[in-house]
Amino acid sequence: MTITTAPTPPTTPAEHRSAELEHHIAQDPGRFRVLTGDRPTGPLHLGHYFGTLRNRVRLQDLGVDVMILIPDYQVLTDRDTAERLGEYTDGLLLDYLALGIDPARSTVFNHSAVPALNQLLLPFLSLVSVAELSRNPTVKDEIAHSRQSVVSGLMLTYPAHQAADILSCKGSVVPVGQDQLPHLELSRTIARRFNERYGNVFPEPDALLSAAPLLLGTDGTKMSKSRANSVPLGATADETARLIRGATTDADRHITYDPGTRPGVSSLVLLAALCLERDPHQVAAEIGDGGAAVLKRTVTDAVNSHLAPYRARRAEYARDLPYVRSVLRAGNERANALAEATLEEVREAMGTFR
Ligand code: TRP
Repeated sequence: MTITTAPTPPTTPAEHRSAELEHHIAQDPGRFRVLTGDRPTGPLHLGHYFGTLRNRVRLQDLGVDVMILIPDYQVLTDRDTAERLGEYTDGLLLDYLALGIDPARSTVFNHSAVPALNQLLLPFLSLVSVAELSRNPTVKDEIAHSRQSVVSGLMLTYPAHQAADILSCKGSVVPVGQDQLPHLELSRTIARRFNERYGNVFPEPDALLSAAPLLLGTDGTKMSKSRANSVPLGATADETARLIRGATTDADRHITYDPGTRPGVSSLVLLAALCLERDPHQVAAEIGDGGAAVLKRTVTDAVNSHLAPYRARRAEYARDLPYVRSVLRAGNERANALAEATLEEVREAMGTFR
């Protein structure tokens, strides 16, 4: 990738730490365990692909131990029931495999299959105050956008659950976007407090900030799995064309790349540029006065040809769902072994019954 995703120089403390971490990973990848995950609330889309999925494959290929969690319990933070859980879980597995996640090197697992992970939530909750849980800015935002009229206990406590996700396998690196930083801070706090109170069991995990390009949904708002405003990775070429044809643009026929003043048009230009591995300004200049129609045709062709090999592999895996599901079963076995070993250390440190 050139220009388009070139990381801007680090400015915030979190960005500095993240850049340093990236350097350490490159030097000794085998020392690190990455823990990351996707809620099974819908199909993965182009935003995930350019933002996080490619980065996971890159880390795996560097030799990092990559663990990918499908946090099925976390689906229930902002809705009453988990709809189409099996379908979305299969979809995530297909995407991971098609993109190059290798089950011989990486581990995919889910919350509900790992009892020891969930048990860690109980001691962890004792280490945080209700005030700390209540002032988490990401949780506040999610409450504001929730489909529920009440705030459940799970909504308030899921960041502590996320600490259990990470610490049950002693994950050292968590690739995140800005919105997940408060959660990671809480995981670090929990690890530190546990160690101070009971003895040294947990490493403090570090955030690896991803330089995710900002792609908007087809309606001009944040692209989201559960908002039906994205292009799913697994969509067909025709579906992709239809979704992009419906994307929000503006009245100016002359196409430019200007994210500040023309978010809809610029997001489409950026998407084409990412797929073509080109500079978005150049892509826009070539379309010039072609207007939204040429822009959308350019984007559609770029997305479809970029994703064609991946979609072909995805379709192949889809013909062998028993295999795909066996990947999750094997991952759960490994996650259980790691979480049970950690829980054993926790029992030892806390002096609890056995
Ligand atoms: N909260 C994350 C999200 O909504 C998903 C998640 C659950 C996660 N547990 C995690 C991410 C542990 C990283 C590490 O996207």
